[in-house]
Amino acid sequence: MTSAKAKILIVDDEPAICDILARWLSADGYACESVHSGEAALDALEQDEVHLIISDILMPGMSGIDLLSIVRSKFPGVAVLMVTAVDDRKTGIRTLELGAYGYVIKPFDRNEILINVAMALERREASLLNDEYGGNLRGHITRSLKQIGQLEGIIFHTISSFGHRHGETDEHLRRVGRFASTLLNIVRPGRSMQELDDMARAAAMHDIGKIAAPEAIWLKKGKLDDRERVVAQTHSEAGAKILQGADAPALRLAQEIAWAHHEWWDGTGYPRGLAGDAIPEAARIVAIVDTYDALLHERPHRPAFPEDEALRIIKDESGAHFEPRLVDCFMQALPRMREILQESNLEASQREKLSLDFAKIHRDR
Ligand SMILES: [Fe+2]
Ligand SMILES: [Fe+2]
Repeated sequence: MTSAKAKILIVDDEPAICDILARWLSADGYACESVHSGEAALDALEQDEVHLIISDILMPGMSGIDLLSIVRSKFPGVAVLMVTAVDDRKTGIRTLELGAYGYVIKPFDRNEILINVAMALERREASLLNDEYGGNLRGHITRSLKQIGQLEGIIFHTISSFGHRHGETDEHLRRVGRFASTLLNIVRPGRSMQELDDMARAAAMHDIGKIAAPEAIWLKKGKLDDRERVVAQTHSEAGAKILQGADAPALRLAQEIAWAHHEWWDGTGYPRGLAGDAIPEAARIVAIVDTYDALLHERPHRPAFPEDEALRIIKDESGAHFEPRLVDCFMQALPRMREILQESNLEASQREKLSLDFAKIHRDR
C-alpha cells in the first residue's frame, strides 16, 4: 500500500477541525472519514479497514486516551496520531508511552500534519513488515533466551546461524566479538577473563535484530531505497526487544549493544539519536570494530577496502561517528587486530577443509 492511498479516520468533537484536516489530507491523496466521538470511531473501525487515526484527546464521552488504548489492543495494525492542546505537552508524551505514533499540538499547520501522517504511515508499514517476517522467529528466540538463561554458548551458535542467512558470516560475528573484547581490554585494563568473554559473546550478537526484517534487504546488491532503509534500521530496536529481560550478564550487555551500535558519538545515529556518554560504552566499542571488519570485507553492494583506506575512514569519523578516545585506543590495538584477522582466515580455511573432508568421506562410502 502506498501512503497516498491510505485510509484515515479523523476523530474530533469539533466539526470545523475535522473539516480542515479532511480537506488538507484529501488534497494530498488520502481517503478520509470524520467522526465526532471515540465511540463512533470504534464503530467505524469495525465497519471498514483504516490505516491511521488522527484523534483529539479532550472529547465528551470517551477520551482520546481511552480510544488510543482500545485501538492499540483491538486493532494493533492501525497507527494513531494524537492532537493535543498547546498547554498539555505532558499528555502528548504520555500518549507516546501508550503506543501513539506521534502527537501534534494545536494550533497545527498543514505541513506539520502532512509530515506527521507520512511518518506514522511509514512506521506502521515497517512495523507490519517486521511482525510478518520476524514475529515467529523473534518469539521463538525470546522464549529460548529466557528459558536457557546461562547457556549463552548454545544461543550464540543459534544466533550466528541466523546471522549467516542475513549476509553476515560466522567469521564476521566471531571477529567482531574478539575485536571488541581486545579493545575493551585496552580501554578498561584489568577486566576479568569472564568480563572479556562476556564482551566477545555480546558483541557477536550486535545484529541479532536483522532476523526481524526480510532477508532480501540484507542481501540486496544495490543501495537500499528510503523505505528499505527505514525497515533495515529497525534491526537495532528489534535486537533490543529480542534480548529484553534476559538475566545472564553477557545477554544484558548484548541487549545494550544491539540497541545502540548504530548510535553516533555526535548524536546523528539511530534509533534514539543518543550522543556521547549517553551511548553505552560497549556499543561505542562495537561501532568501531564492526565498521573496521565490515570495511575490510566484501559486502553484497561493494568490494572490500584495503586496510589503509579503512583506517583513514575510521580516523575521519573520529568525533562524528566514533568517540575520539576509543579511536585512539583502537589504533594502539591494531597489531592485535591484525593477528585476529589472520587467525580468523586460518580458522575459516581449516573449517572449509574439514567440511570438504566430510563431503569426501560421504562420497567414498
Ligand atoms: Fe547493525
Ligand atoms: Fe556487523
